[in-house]
Amino acid sequence: MRKPNWKSNDKVAGKGAITQQFVATMRGEKLEIEVAPWGEGHLKINGLEVARVTDAKDRRDAFSQLEKAAEQHLTASGANKDSSAIPAVRAKLLEDKKGLVVGIANDNSIAWGCAKAFRAFGAEVAVTYLNDKAKKYVEPLARELDSPIVMPLDVNAPGQMEAVFERIKDEWGKLDFLVHSIAFSPKEALHGRVVDVGREGFLTTMDVSCWTFIRMAHLAEPLMRKGGTLFTMSYYGSQMVVKNYNIMGVAKAALECAVRYLAAELGPKGIRVHAISPGPLATRAASGIPEFDALLDKAQAKAPTKSLVSIEDVGVATAFLAHDAAKLITGETLYIDGGYHIID
Ligand SMILES: NC(=O)c1ccc[n+]([C@@H]2O[C@H](COP(=O)([O-])OP(=O)(O)OC[C@H]3O[C@@H](n4cnc5c(N)ncnc54)[C@H](O)[C@@H]3O)[C@@H](O)[C@H]2O)c1
Repeated sequence: MRKPNWKSNDKVAGKGAITQQFVATMRGEKLEIEVAPWGEGHLKINGLEVARVTDAKDRRDAFSQLEKAAEQHLTASGANKDSSAIPAVRAKLLEDKKGLVVGIANDNSIAWGCAKAFRAFGAEVAVTYLNDKAKKYVEPLARELDSPIVMPLDVNAPGQMEAVFERIKDEWGKLDFLVHSIAFSPKEALHGRVVDVGREGFLTTMDVSCWTFIRMAHLAEPLMRKGGTLFTMSYYGSQMVVKNYNIMGVAKAALECAVRYLAAELGPKGIRVHAISPGPLATRAASGIPEFDALLDKAQAKAPTKSLVSIEDVGVATAFLAHDAAKLITGETLYIDGGYHIID
């Protein structure tokens, strides 16, 4: 975990000053600690007092208590999480491009890794959140992205998907990329054998995890008059029988197949379509898969790189494919898994 780089504020701590002030800036938050020799002090964040000590042993002890309080605050607000930092890149490879990222639930989401990377490369990013409950997790992330469009989108709610694309049409008049990073299967369908899956569970799984990508492609097409790139997230369980992946593997196989048909149909218009297939990542969706830890251990042990992937790895590779340099790559299922899929 990165720590704030505290510096003494000489303007306050000049000769004869009794209290001493330390300042630091982290992810746009202005931190100030002021301490007195008799062990009193306070911590201010963005000018607001958030912690105070009155009975520390001395100045040094007061500082160390307040320093801890500052770190706790940063962790709680997510501001100190390296994974939530938008990476700084010099090359604005996607400047002037505008895209929609669907599927951010929190700062562990693959969609967040993608949104950060697209933004870091200079693109403007619109984001959606599932419902009011999700909004409070997504809104601070949308602020980090400076997203001009932040809208609710539950694909089961009639009209919400259309409303998002309408807004993009009104605001931007075009769309350069779309990241579809959503999937859902009811517990009873996901946790049972494929052979036992009921019709409802099957249809819901296919509807949310596959058909919505086809529908988003349909809505994106008229906005991609000068071409664009459509992405969806898949998994190796579409190709191989992966323990506990069950009906989701069937849905991902359909999704990857849809990618190829969409790529063929939209290719003449300069619209490229890809499935991104990351190795296992500990996200909220993944927590619905039994024995997921075992899957992570196996992935790390078997992959040639001997490493797990991060949402940042997935993000930058996805963003690369949206660059014009990748204009003749389409219809792919791109594995971002440290090479896991090539090993027997
Ligand atoms: N985590 C992994 O190991 C892994 C590996 C490969 C592929 N994937 C795929 O990546 C994608 C993103 O998942 P994640 O792992 O980042 O988990 P996540 O929980 O962060 O994201 C899943 C998203 O799906 C959204 N969603 C579910 N039902 C929805 C609905 N009705 N309307 C709109 N949105 C809905 C959720 O709100 C959430 O934002 C999924 O397609 C998943 O299958 C995940």
